[in-house]
Amino acid sequence: MGVELDTQKQLIEFSDQELDEVQRLAADKCIVVVRNVIMSRQEQALFARRLGDPLIKPNNPDDIPKELVQIKADQHSKYAAGELWHSDVSSDSKPPGLSMLRMEITPSSGGDTVFANMYQAFNSLSVSMKTFLQKLRALHVPKAHYLYTSGMKKMDELESSLHPVVRLHPLNNRKALFVNAAFVEKIEGLTFLESKAVLRMIYNHIAYSVNHQCRIRWEPNTVVFWDNRCVQHYASFDYFPALRLGYRATIRGEKPVPAKIFTH
Ligand code: SIN
Repeated sequence: MGVELDTQKQLIEFSDQELDEVQRLAADKCIVVVRNVIMSRQEQALFARRLGDPLIKPNNPDDIPKELVQIKADQHSKYAAGELWHSDVSSDSKPPGLSMLRMEITPSSGGDTVFANMYQAFNSLSVSMKTFLQKLRALHVPKAHYLYTSGMKKMDELESSLHPVVRLHPLNNRKALFVNAAFVEKIEGLTFLESKAVLRMIYNHIAYSVNHQCRIRWEPNTVVFWDNRCVQHYASFDYFPALRLGYRATIRGEKPVPAKIFTH
């Protein structure tokens, strides 16, 4: 999983066709890493609009474009954003496809992001479990939504959505597990205890399957694109009290398409 782009060009010089290739690469490899990216916040906001329809954070201060979410932890932080396995904002009815995190300041050690491949997580289950999971939907609620955690919206002002537990990636039709610990409340049609047991099994499978994971070490000016349709991530908060600062653009995806029932 994962690929590092070896390019002499700056990202802002990429043509639309090259941006499409980045999106296809992210769909295939789950994450695309680009080093030494020179880009201001304003340029990142414009770049995000070239990638699609960025989610908006209307309560940003004037010096942070509303297309960006600031990712920051320092000596005052009790926790860091993303400190739990998740795909971004999966409670939206059209949850994000691509996310793009551009790091400005990194701690001298730590602050890695760990990614887990949801194609492989699905593929490595037994045929019986795959068949069972493909018939299910899960309720995603906005308890980790950035507009809720930043205090801008109440939970009931944001969407909750039922999504298939196994979805097809729209660019390559591959099957990916699509439940995550930060947003999912329950699996539809199961009792509370059944749902809890099935979700715990899936979350353990994701967290402990180290063969399906990769760890990104950030440097200032590293950009990572990840495709939330096929990857989950976990931001390690192991650098307190140092400063880690970056900006994430999160691009709206589409309504998830369920994997076909009884196929594997
Ligand atoms: C996030 O969950 O989007 C933040 C990831 C990170 O800070 O590494």
